[in-house]
Amino acid sequence: MSEPHDAVDVIRAKRDGGRLSDAQVDWVVDAYTRGVVADEQMSALAMAILLNGMDRAEIARWTHAMIRTGERMDFSGLSRPTADKHSTGGVGDKITLPLAPLVAACGVAVPQLSGRGLGHTGGTLDKLESVRGWRAALSNEEMLRQLDDVGAVICAAGSGLAPADKKLYALRDVTGTVEAIPLIASSIMSKKIAEGTGALVLDVKVGSGAFMKTEDDARELARTMVELGTDSGVTTVALLTNMQTPLGLTAGNALEVRESVEVLAGGGPPDVVELTLALAREMLAAAGVTGVDPADRLRDGSAMDAWRRMLQAQGGDPDAPLPTARETHVVRAEADGVRTSLDAYGVGLAAWRLGAGRARQGEPVQAGAGVELHAKPGATVRGGDPLMSLHTDEPDRFERALEALQESVFIAPEGSRPDLLPLVIERVAAD
Ligand code: URA
Repeated sequence: MSEPHDAVDVIRAKRDGGRLSDAQVDWVVDAYTRGVVADEQMSALAMAILLNGMDRAEIARWTHAMIRTGERMDFSGLSRPTADKHSTGGVGDKITLPLAPLVAACGVAVPQLSGRGLGHTGGTLDKLESVRGWRAALSNEEMLRQLDDVGAVICAAGSGLAPADKKLYALRDVTGTVEAIPLIASSIMSKKIAEGTGALVLDVKVGSGAFMKTEDDARELARTMVELGTDSGVTTVALLTNMQTPLGLTAGNALEVRESVEVLAGGGPPDVVELTLALAREMLAAAGVTGVDPADRLRDGSAMDAWRRMLQAQGGDPDAPLPTARETHVVRAEADGVRTSLDAYGVGLAAWRLGAGRARQGEPVQAGAGVELHAKPGATVRGGDPLMSLHTDEPDRFERALEALQESVFIAPEGSRPDLLPLVIERVAAD
């Protein structure tokens, strides 16, 4: 059967700065998924999109064309409203772990389809797999049942949602086109809209440890995604949050689960608690639930109960001890001073090199590996005080992890003041 369009015409139109027609967008996304448009043609088109952009209607059309290549889930039969959260990824970003059970304890169902870590940012599924027995793969029926019974599910996204995105993302990864804002926005939102959540809160990270290094880029990405969600009937808001410094005091799988449990028990580092509560309040508001303060649900233990039930429903044992690494190396302050900076990218890279992350899809990760911080920016330290502990099962990994940290940790003379950005920088909502 002959095709209604020609890939070269579509590439030329975008190369020359034009807009693609609805018919061109629908065809090129579908034809690429079917293998009719070749990888080299889609690479050229992705680069033309990166260089020349897309308007709001084009991005929406592209997103829906990607959704139509796969299945859509439907949570409308549940007895409670649904809300999901998506983070664009950062170092020490374990927020999904306490957030999902916390929001469930407030009466909103949370369907969290999560991924694995690649590069210097960790993946939620890798973190949860450090809980003994826990399994990431659920069928759609199991997911629905758990959402009804427990109110929160964190599981692997099946291959049925937006398969066009899977193929296109892999291509962008090797053609220098990951950073195109229309393509990032449509990639994330196609999966979230297909997942069927009623409300969505986006945590768009800004800083050295994030995809988006500047506030302007992060704001544009946030706006594009909020518009896409809103235009598709999903109540969507975004917070721009600081990823110049790692979140909390840990980066690494089991280390981050331990810190999340501390938050659920009413303790934990103040920045992790602040962001968990800020996102929870946004999710409740977006789902239309009022009169519940998530801070009360942390205090009264109901968020912890939901966490335990969420793990148990997926075979996990919440009482099993978390794995720890075999070897530890402590980095100490050489002199008295004030810790003025702690670069998120360096810490993420160090955790990755210690074995917490993978270089290629499918590699195993070490559950106990990672970096534990003993002082955050602003803290006064004395010579000899521990600054951070590095954990791994393989001691020959310490050297390269320490190299990653060399430029990341700065101790200034006493009296110096660190230049600290607020954790939540801005809120972006529909006009
Ligand atoms: N996450 C996604 O799912 N897609 C992107 O393009 C970037 C981050």
